Amino acid sequence: MAKLIAGVTTSHVPAIGAALDNGRSGEPYWQKVFGGYDFSKKWIAETKPDVVFLVYNDHASAFSLEVIPTFALGCAESFPIADEGWGPRPVPVVKGHPDLAWHIAQSAILDEFDLTIVNKMEVDHGLTVPLSLLCGQPKEWPFKVIPLCVNVIQYPPPTGHRCFMLGKAIRKAIDTFDRDLRVVIFGTGGMSHQLQGPRAGFINKVFDNNFLDHFATDPQSLVKIPHLEYLREAGSEGIELVMWLIARGALDDDVKEIHRFYHVPASNTAVGHMILENRH
Ligand code: DHB
Ligand code: FE
Repeated sequence: MAKLIAGVTTSHVPAIGAALDNGRSGEPYWQKVFGGYDFSKKWIAETKPDVVFLVYNDHASAFSLEVIPTFALGCAESFPIADEGWGPRPVPVVKGHPDLAWHIAQSAILDEFDLTIVNKMEVDHGLTVPLSLLCGQPKEWPFKVIPLCVNVIQYPPPTGHRCFMLGKAIRKAIDTFDRDLRVVIFGTGGMSHQLQGPRAGFINKVFDNNFLDHFATDPQSLVKIPHLEYLREAGSEGIELVMWLIARGALDDDVKEIHRFYHVPASNTAVGHMILENRH
């Protein structure tokens, strides 16, 4: 049977991808960011997942305001890299796992989570930057990736509680997939950041560290955070943190926190990163 081993949560700041792609990751500013992922690179190379279920959001690359799925599950064989204005990032094409993706679609939809099934989708920095942070610059990504694209762009995005419960439905689907696969779930985005308006550049270290402190041991206190509180306390783009709660919902209640990293600034944001392992 397939087995969910662990969860990885991380920011997906596009400037991190640009720093890597342009050979600037060794600069002092960027070293402070990339250094927080040294452990994680070793960990994922040793953990060797077959499949990463990657929760992220599209930033008007694959979708626009014309079509806004709340939860879009990538069921394709592969996902091309989106051109976000400077040409597609020079990273490998993302290969999917259609059999597991369709199984998750069937299981979650029958569990009353009405996912949108997507058979053609370009993927942007929301998905590729976390892969780069964990895997560096390989010729091929070392695992298959199932993208789950969440709307956190156009209000109303899903609630943290809905995301957490969807995580549980995804876990049930992984547990019932009849093939021996090692799966890791990624929840990306965050932490506090605001990219626009009079509060652009807003960061809230107290909010972020409280979120990190409760993420492993008391996620129930986080699923109750309403959208307005994210807006007020974590900035307009801090709402991306609801995607971390999908990853948390999929994991066991009792998890082992094996890595934590928090750093300000990267571009306009607070970078947060955690690795949680299921104990069994
Ligand atoms: C930026 C964009 C993002 O999508 C994000 O999650 C963080 C930062 C940016 O443009 O700096
Ligand atoms: Fe983002």
